[in-house]
Amino acid sequence: MPDPNVTTPDSDSARELVVPEGGFWPAPEVPQPNIYPMEWHVETEKLAAIYQKSKVMAWNPADLPWDGLRPGDFTREQRLGIMYWFSVLANFDASGPAVFARATIRAFEKHEEDPVRKCFFSITRDEMNHEECCQRAIGALWPGGPLDWTPETDLERAAHNNIGWLYHNGGRYWNGYNQAVGRYSLAVLFTSFMMGEMAASTLFRGMASATTHPVFSEMFHKIGRDESRHLQICMTILENEWPGLTDEVRGTITRQLRAGFVFLSMILWEPPEGFWELPPYFLNNHRVLMDHARSAGLGVLSYDQQADNWRNAIAKIRVIVERWGIDFPAVPELDIEGVDVSADISSEDIIPVF
Ligand SMILES: [Fe+2]
Ligand SMILES: [Fe+2]
Repeated sequence: MPDPNVTTPDSDSARELVVPEGGFWPAPEVPQPNIYPMEWHVETEKLAAIYQKSKVMAWNPADLPWDGLRPGDFTREQRLGIMYWFSVLANFDASGPAVFARATIRAFEKHEEDPVRKCFFSITRDEMNHEECCQRAIGALWPGGPLDWTPETDLERAAHNNIGWLYHNGGRYWNGYNQAVGRYSLAVLFTSFMMGEMAASTLFRGMASATTHPVFSEMFHKIGRDESRHLQICMTILENEWPGLTDEVRGTITRQLRAGFVFLSMILWEPPEGFWELPPYFLNNHRVLMDHARSAGLGVLSYDQQADNWRNAIAKIRVIVERWGIDFPAVPELDIEGVDVSADISSEDIIPVF
């Protein structure tokens, strides 16, 4: 039944525009920060092109040849070692989706240009894939891993306990990141992200060539390619952000670079002093477990190769930031000279992401 109170115009031509006397009423200002107004400004064409490329290069972790990853091809210790390494990786890569999702929302709130928002989204997407690789590799070789299983030997108890300590620190990172993301400018955040992406692309390139297993080889090549694209995104954003830096921000970036080294060394090499809260036996047992992963053909580099790789990656970062007048922090662990900022690093300073 038609509602008698509603008048329906009998044809389109009967509708008349309403122009209020005295003009249209301005809409209220949208309180900021807010994702509105929604616009699609493009200032950096290069970022727009990287975003389009990221869609063409998309891949699906489910399509890796998982049938080729057979538990029976490894000893129990090797399977544990591989699960342990992927759990260490997941401490970094599994934070990726949430970290970049938050950065994506932040970019909308700050009305960053459209390609910045889209590139953050694409990194979020990629990191979800990287996390899925950790999930699938662990699921194939150590069901219940990282932590939902009952250890039966001392080696297994050591692995389980170390992973628990790693995730304790992952939780501390997330708390710090949540505060940092609102407090720091894009220049500071992205220098940290850039360091993480440089670390990630270096790690996966090294492991892609060292692994003897076809599933891991394909996985590491594909992740490494994504990480190189993330690095390119960070560099493109930083080229826009760095020219206007103040000395104060430069000083913050120097501290951030040291924080990045402290945080990322856990996966690239070994954890230095300064952030990681770990029991005294952690590192020894970590080495034993890494040896098992290495012997399984996962592609974990030796201690010295890892140090060389990390040193080379840091040298590249140094060249990039020094071009913009940013001092590099001292990294005595790798014989790298620079400004000593180690005393001013706190857990809230840790913001890099893989
Ligand atoms: Fe990444
Ligand atoms: Fe990643």
